[in-house]
Amino acid sequence: MNLAIIGAQWGDEGKGKIVDLLAPHFDIVTRYQGGHNAGHTVIIRRDGVDHKFVLHLIPSGITHPGKTCVIGNGVVVDPQALLREMEELHAQGIEVNHHNLLISNRAHLILPYHVALDRAIEASRGGNAVGTTMRGIGPAYEDKMARRGLRAGDLTDPATLAEKLATNVKQNNRLLAMLGGELIDDKKVIADGERWCEMLAPHICDTTYFLNQSARAGKALLLEGAQATMLDIDHGTYPFVTSSNSSIGGACTGAGIPPRLINATIGVIKAYTTRVGGGPFPAELNDSLGEHIRARGGEYGASTGRPRRTGWFDAVIARYAVMVNGLDALALTKLDVLDDLAEIKICVGYRINGKEVDQVPYDANQMNIAEPVYETMPGWQSKTEGISKFAELPVRAQTYIARLSELSGAPFAFISTGAERNETILAHDVLNACGLTLPV
Ligand code: IMP
Repeated sequence: MNLAIIGAQWGDEGKGKIVDLLAPHFDIVTRYQGGHNAGHTVIIRRDGVDHKFVLHLIPSGITHPGKTCVIGNGVVVDPQALLREMEELHAQGIEVNHHNLLISNRAHLILPYHVALDRAIEASRGGNAVGTTMRGIGPAYEDKMARRGLRAGDLTDPATLAEKLATNVKQNNRLLAMLGGELIDDKKVIADGERWCEMLAPHICDTTYFLNQSARAGKALLLEGAQATMLDIDHGTYPFVTSSNSSIGGACTGAGIPPRLINATIGVIKAYTTRVGGGPFPAELNDSLGEHIRARGGEYGASTGRPRRTGWFDAVIARYAVMVNGLDALALTKLDVLDDLAEIKICVGYRINGKEVDQVPYDANQMNIAEPVYETMPGWQSKTEGISKFAELPVRAQTYIARLSELSGAPFAFISTGAERNETILAHDVLNACGLTLPV
């Protein structure tokens, strides 16, 4: 049984928690796209104390002993950031070694000039900045597509790495000089490169063979998406997107596995919507209510600390995510954040130039001028935090969830009512239909 987990909005839906919940039922957890622009928060209660893990590059399965985590070929890896994350996990008592973390030799590297280029390009965009995480993601994927990138496999060949780094730094410094960016010291990068080779080479292998052979041998694969459908380079609100395929297609190309190996796909979606960075957001709340949701939901970027923009649940994008990814089910997160609201709105369509539409426009400018068409429901105004049985939810919350499912076109397999593992409602019938049997 192989399952993909995908963000169904603009990211930060709480995929980390869902992956963490599911990881015990799988053998291998694989990240297949994006880089350390992601921030997957996992809270684990040990001996009565909450331990918070924020994972950026390493799959969220790493906190589970005995699981193999894979950074697939579709991921862009910043060696410096990866080593930092490994050290942080070590400090929290989690050992990362070449048994529990494998890195695809085909994964492209994010190098210091990519970060400098990300900064310089964003600065040059002025008011049209994408609002990137400044992690060098876009420039690294540009190099990949332009067929001049360095890959993790290059870290297993220190002799030629230095030469390749020297050439690339030289070329990129020319570009950086033109853009007024910060120039990169080639000697430092080459010296760092030696250390990266030493530290990371034991993890680097051909994960494409590993994943396919493991799946054929009956091992269960969990595919962990980063970012989300609306940030997908092809299907999102281009150009206000990330530079990878964060919808389901990316799982195949980014892990090197055929579509038929993926038995089910679950989309993670918040009970409201957030987005970080620039770009259209029709159901955005630019008022005290938006601020209230931000404060209650702790809506600040896990990677960058930036405040997230907040808004109502947008059923237009939910339906789109169900369609593009073929979602078998959804996981609803952060329901409790809406607990004290008297009234809750759902965006059911857009009005663009006076015309009502129920589809996501391809053009970000059209989406930018889209006015939300709302349906209003009464709030439940009682505590849902920590509830783990659907029947114990206030009736109005049940009605809200049923409406979200109806509008989105997929059933809910999970409803999360808090950060901890046990603060979750499981819909066993939906999970079973996805091929998953979880303890009742
Ligand atoms: P980049 O991925 O750093 O190039 O940023 C491109 C866009 O994707 C920006 O709007 C970012 O805020 C957004 N983005 C990238 N990663 C995440 C994430 O993990 N969660 C939410 N937004 C993200």
